[in-house]
Amino acid sequence: MRLDKLLANMGYGSRKEVKQLLKQKAVTVDGVVVKDAAMKVDPNAQHVAIFGERVEYIEYIYLMMNKPPGVISATEDDYDKTVIDLLDPFAQHFKPFPVGRLDKDTEGLLLITNDGQLAHNLLSPKKHVPKTYYAKIDGQVTEEDIKAFAAGVELEDGYVTKPGHLVILKSEASSEIELTIQEGKFHQVKRMFEAVGKKVTYLKRLSMGSLILDKSLALGEYREVTNEELELLIGNK
Ligand code: URA
Repeated sequence: MRLDKLLANMGYGSRKEVKQLLKQKAVTVDGVVVKDAAMKVDPNAQHVAIFGERVEYIEYIYLMMNKPPGVISATEDDYDKTVIDLLDPFAQHFKPFPVGRLDKDTEGLLLITNDGQLAHNLLSPKKHVPKTYYAKIDGQVTEEDIKAFAAGVELEDGYVTKPGHLVILKSEASSEIELTIQEGKFHQVKRMFEAVGKKVTYLKRLSMGSLILDKSLALGEYREVTNEELELLIGNK
């Protein structure tokens, strides 16, 4: 890879700004000052440094976000802010995208990455990656609903869902539940409750496969997925 591309990709400025750094003799490759922007380097085998500090080459970025409501799970939108708009310029530089969609009003765990293979594996219906949601429901959720979800419910378009695991946390006129499903149909949780005559009034995703929402993340905050979390997640493939 060209030296200027590597440095620009790693967030050291535009190619033009990187040229200035090279001119200033700020860049070394294996300890030798390099001024040639076009020099070919292997970032994994060679030691590239700026002002003596090693430039670590990263190809993929993996972020866990606590998605806030009012923001779209997409890379671009004509009207609303997207989850990508919430990222800092360094993270945006990697051209990441959200893995799957949460509705505009849904909160909680969203994995954001530029690793297309991992995204594909997590979203593939064949992989049955479980997703757990916490929801507030207008209506009393009952044992009957647990049974109905375990058997699969018929949505308004005739689709019968795969079994879902429903746990009732509070069963009153306004209920609280956790629901684990292994598919990701459009508005699935909301439509499953509609199928049993109830309405989701608040929805938050708690986990996706082995990845669990970090409770210390406030709405709109994100952090890098740790190596441990990533290994487990890749193991989910
Ligand atoms: N199910 C829904 O209804 N909405 C979401 O955002 C996610 C799952």
